[in-house]
Amino acid sequence: MQVDGLPYRAVSWNTRRGGVEWIEQRLLPHRFEAVVSGDPEDVAVAIETMQVRGAPSIGAAAAFGLALAWQKDAPRFHSHWLPRMRATRPTAVNLFHACDAMAKCSESAASPTRMLECAQAYADAEVERNRAIGEHLAPMLARGRRRILTHCNAGWLAAVDWGTATSGIYHLAQAGEKPFVWVDETRPRLQGARLTAWELAQEGIACRIQADAAAAWMMAKGEVDAVVVGADRIARNGDVANKIGTYALSLAAREHGVPMYVAAPSSTFDPACPDGHAIPIEMRDDSEVLMMDGIDDGGQGHRVRIAAAGVAANNPAFDVTPFRNVSAIVSEHGVWQPA
Ligand code: MRU
Repeated sequence: MQVDGLPYRAVSWNTRRGGVEWIEQRLLPHRFEAVVSGDPEDVAVAIETMQVRGAPSIGAAAAFGLALAWQKDAPRFHSHWLPRMRATRPTAVNLFHACDAMAKCSESAASPTRMLECAQAYADAEVERNRAIGEHLAPMLARGRRRILTHCNAGWLAAVDWGTATSGIYHLAQAGEKPFVWVDETRPRLQGARLTAWELAQEGIACRIQADAAAAWMMAKGEVDAVVVGADRIARNGDVANKIGTYALSLAAREHGVPMYVAAPSSTFDPACPDGHAIPIEMRDDSEVLMMDGIDDGGQGHRVRIAAAGVAANNPAFDVTPFRNVSAIVSEHGVWQPA
């Protein structure tokens, strides 16, 4: 999608420099910077530290990182690099699908060029899936006054391009509708406030950031026509793991009769996982809850503590929304139903 009018992908291969390129998401919205590295360890660290985040972008970064690992260190591809990449984050299943795809590619072809082609094909397929999701989702979002609530960042930064949830919003806008988006700030990492709102503004879509706790109240007041979120893993029975807070949103949406849609490419489905109980939920560092990053009026970055020293935090990064709370799960094939 666009940044200052120019097209970008969240993760790509930089041919000129022979490395993986990613947008450093931790700097946004205050600074837009792309990083290029020819070291697969840098790619693994970028996923671990959330420079690259969001399920499909994590998968694409791992795919390119593994193509790089094959170029630089093929003898340790299976013994070191595959397990290294798989260990970067636990919840988004796209990571594991990408690692499996690259492992398969390494068995049949085993040339650096072929491995890079496989990674590129993986990323391109993800982009096409996201675009197709938007075509199915847009008519479902064309309700009432087109006031759509979203949580976390299920935008192009999280999904290589288009986004998953935002793909429907962009298709709606391209069809001449005028969607308005309530953006949950999404504590503790604030992916909504920092990333989704920035993406929407770049595309000229009207939005407002709100505290997560405002969502249920806005639904109660009839100010929300639909909720749309992404997913990090969808179990065989349709239970959805997504950013912490999604489950609470689903309860409020059900209570107030607001449709709640989950948008996810097929790479986010995990048929090996019977239900939500089997989805590993990442626990992250206390500091994400206890500290806050931002810039002052002079543009200087600061990290400040917002809680009393010595108080601990609880920081599950994801939750599971039972399928019964979801109005529809939309993939590139249309509305998905558990078998
Ligand atoms: O911890 P993050 O920022 O990687 O979590 C991301 C999300 O929960 C997104 O909403 C999810 O990956 C769906 S994105 C297309």
